[in-house]
Amino acid sequence: MSTTVEIRIACVMVGLPARGKTYLAKKIQRYLRWLGIDTEIFNVGCERQKLANRIDHTFFDFHNANGMSQREQAAETTLTAMIDWFDEGKGTVAIYDGTNCTRARRAWIHKELASRGIEVLFIESICQDESIIQSNIQDIISKNPDYHDMDPAVAEADFKQRVKHYEEMYETITEDHLTYLKIIDANQQCIINLVRGYLESRIVYFLMNVKIRPKSIWFSRHGESQFNVEDKIGGDADLSSRGQMYAARLPDLIKEHVGDRPLTVWTSSMKRTIQTASQLPYPKKSWKALDELNTGVCDGMTYAEIEEKYPEDFARRDEDKFNYRYRGGESYRDLVLRVEPIIMELERHDNILLVAHQATLRCIFAYFLDVGHDELPYIKVPLHTLIELIPNAHGCEKHYYRGNIEAVDTFRPKGDRVTKLKDTDTSNAGAIGEIADAKNPILPLSPKLYPKKSTTH
Ligand code: SIN
Repeated sequence: MSTTVEIRIACVMVGLPARGKTYLAKKIQRYLRWLGIDTEIFNVGCERQKLANRIDHTFFDFHNANGMSQREQAAETTLTAMIDWFDEGKGTVAIYDGTNCTRARRAWIHKELASRGIEVLFIESICQDESIIQSNIQDIISKNPDYHDMDPAVAEADFKQRVKHYEEMYETITEDHLTYLKIIDANQQCIINLVRGYLESRIVYFLMNVKIRPKSIWFSRHGESQFNVEDKIGGDADLSSRGQMYAARLPDLIKEHVGDRPLTVWTSSMKRTIQTASQLPYPKKSWKALDELNTGVCDGMTYAEIEEKYPEDFARRDEDKFNYRYRGGESYRDLVLRVEPIIMELERHDNILLVAHQATLRCIFAYFLDVGHDELPYIKVPLHTLIELIPNAHGCEKHYYRGNIEAVDTFRPKGDRVTKLKDTDTSNAGAIGEIADAKNPILPLSPKLYPKKSTTH
């Protein structure tokens, strides 16, 4: 008889207000969901707002008995909701987002969770960098319902008083028997205590790589390849003549939009990305992890050939494109795991231009844009376009800069048969994850620029 031991981990945030706890909580959730691990956030402040809202800083004074009682109630309700969520089998990792800044509060949380077999990982964020704190404060007072419609100067002064109340009682984690990660000044220093197990270590490793400051990351697919023109998938083809034109255009396109900032270029190990980056005057590194989805026995075939030779596979792939694994090849799920080290590196580094492939970029974009697994394989990544992602505290901006060099359109909408595709008018407007703004509207691409063709993963 075998018994399954279910892993359940509670990440419990610790820290003064405006220390980036909610930002980190959201990042953990996005990362784990991207990996396919069901993760939910339980926020104590949101629960407290149901009991008491539009309150001033005196509510947070530790001598205010009424305030203390409502805050404790909110902490308990939130913890109960989290335990119920685990007990209903809804997921593996829960994040308890609150200040949790006294030893007594942490002891209570630990007792409640550990007695139910839930592993507890405390994550404390300490920040002494005034510029980060100030920017977090501005963010909070502009979004937090407690300060809705309030004069920003009054809101800021009140919030700073609120922080002072917390400072009076604040006890940094020193409990040696607890599992914790202490992040000091946005990863200048990290202290790790009693971290065990694969998933816990993975969360800790991820957080150690996270940088809080906003930055741009630049992406391009390789230029159109000979296989793209012939409608074939996979392979290691050279660039087509239009692909070579894009490679020649790319240095200027980058200068126009990136400026003189020094970049480092990461390519896959395949000829088409290396050729696309060949004229760029920056240091380059090639990664096998960035290679295109391995299409196994279908490598080098057209979709029409696959539909004819492997009709069942073709249909199965349409039913569940994320999980479908090519015979002898990979699925998108496999690819997410393959590109995970790239995500870690992108989190750590600045000024990266990544030249890769449609499927690989879809997996990477899904992480930054928080796109679910069902939609991930349908993210549009047009050829001959420089793409800028700017991850920030609330999500990620995305901008498209067209190279204006013709290319085939390799996007195949869900459920479209090859025959139908020949008649499909392809427009890249409104694609999943595409965000237009006034500066960079996403215009429908002229069918002339993107002739009706289909080679896609
Ligand atoms: C809040 O009530 O806004 C903060 C909750 C907490 O201190 O955990």
